[in-house]
Amino acid sequence: MKPSTLMLKSVRLLAICTMLAIGAAGSIGVLAADKDKVIADRQDFMKRQVREWVVVRNYVQGSADQQAATAAADNLVKLVPMIPDHFPPGTEGPTPDGKYGTKPEVWTQHDKFLAAQKKVTDQVATLDAAVKSGDKAKVEVAFKELDVCNGCHNDFRAKLQ
Ligand code: HEC
Repeated sequence: MKPSTLMLKSVRLLAICTMLAIGAAGSIGVLAADKDKVIADRQDFMKRQVREWVVVRNYVQGSADQQAATAAADNLVKLVPMIPDHFPPGTEGPTPDGKYGTKPEVWTQHDKFLAAQKKVTDQVATLDAAVKSGDKAKVEVAFKELDVCNGCHNDFRAKLQ
């Protein structure tokens, strides 16, 4: 075997080893760069939810109409079930501003996390139905129940500062 072939082989081997290492890291969590992106996307996603929530709040307070509130509540019904996709393992920790973060319980007590997500899913469905009924008293009750989605935030969102 010529030395150049040998070198080529070891370069290839190194490449394979690197790929295997990345693969292994990927299976237990995500890489650092990916993690930052997941956290940023998650913040955007949560902010989108709160924007929809604000429209419903405005309806409760009388400054948005039923049509706008229906669209917003419909969006919440679609968004809340997508929440677990935004919490892949290995993405715990603070948001870039360092004020809030995810608690490790999101993963260590994942069943409880999913139960909280299910609870909020039911709450937004109730809110959506109330908005569609046009019964303001019902909307107020459902809106209070939802409590800015604290059914999950209380246990899984950490206030760091
Ligand atoms: C199953 C759990 C869960 C549910 C349900 C949930 N959230 Fe969150 N939310 C979190 C966690 C955990 C964080 C903190 C982590 C982060 O921001 O990366 C968070 C962060 C946020 C933030 C702060 C984002 C930022 O700028 O850092 C907002 C706003 C928010 N949620 C709004 C909502 C609204 C509105 C709903 C309901 C329609 C909702 N969330 C439902 C878990 C949840």
